[in-house]
Amino acid sequence: MTILKAEGISAGYTELDILQNVSMEVKTNQIVSIIGPNGAGKSTLLKSIFGILKPRKGHIVLRDEDITGLKPNKVARKGISYVPQVSNVFPSLTIQENLEMGAFIRTDDYGGRMEEIYNLFPTLREKRKQKAGQLSGGQRQMVAMGRALMLDPIVLLLDEPSAGLAPLLVATIFEKILDINKTGVSIAIVEQNAKEALKMADHGYVLAMGRNVLDDEGKSLLDNEEVAKLYLGG
Ligand SMILES: Nc1ncnc2c1ncn2[C@@H]1O[C@H](COP(=O)(O)OP(=O)(O)OP(=O)(O)O)[C@@H](O)[C@H]1O
Ligand SMILES: [Mg+2]
Repeated sequence: MTILKAEGISAGYTELDILQNVSMEVKTNQIVSIIGPNGAGKSTLLKSIFGILKPRKGHIVLRDEDITGLKPNKVARKGISYVPQVSNVFPSLTIQENLEMGAFIRTDDYGGRMEEIYNLFPTLREKRKQKAGQLSGGQRQMVAMGRALMLDPIVLLLDEPSAGLAPLLVATIFEKILDINKTGVSIAIVEQNAKEALKMADHGYVLAMGRNVLDDEGKSLLDNEEVAKLYLGG
């Protein structure tokens, strides 16, 4: 079943359309990876889905509901969480406070949810009283993902979660993403680490210059010589 669908999206920051008729979909429990060169519009696509940028054309559909044009706080209430590429934690707040911030629109008791997140990221439980700004890059990324998970989303949007991390930490973060997916959260992930991102993806999309180039099963894209040459560094 399709959980999230972006259909024929055109969007941009000025009068110029950065995204031109871009489509993408995430099915139940899938991990979908979006790859492509710098400036392709990958982050812009996630921003358009989350309502930071209003699409000029096209539709965003979550399950059966058209959510096009909703503001981010409304989109979050509908069940989409988003971890931006930069500035995704509050450095002066502790880990625990960052997670609480993630739950700010919840009016119910979220203690149980916080426990589940600490079970996913035991390191965060250990360091819960430390300020996020004092953590390593990998740990900060875990805080950002944990914060996004506090709302118990149906779909998690991740923008370059492995950016700037040492190879060992990249592997750890990708394992965590698989763990999150196993808890029943569908995931759309934008990555520069394209090979790794396609390896764990059920489906992959290649974007370039604001357009869909192609999409296929993650493994098929990995085996595609053209894709390897142009987008995976040979
Ligand atoms: N806030 C903004 N205002 C104006 N133009 C922007 C803004 N953010 C991005 N752009 C432009 O939109 C285009 C697509 O940018 P986007 O950030 O979506 O690319 P990307 O695929 O995420 O690239 P990267 O791999 O470098 O993160 C680029 O030409 C970029 O310069
Ligand atoms: Mg980007």
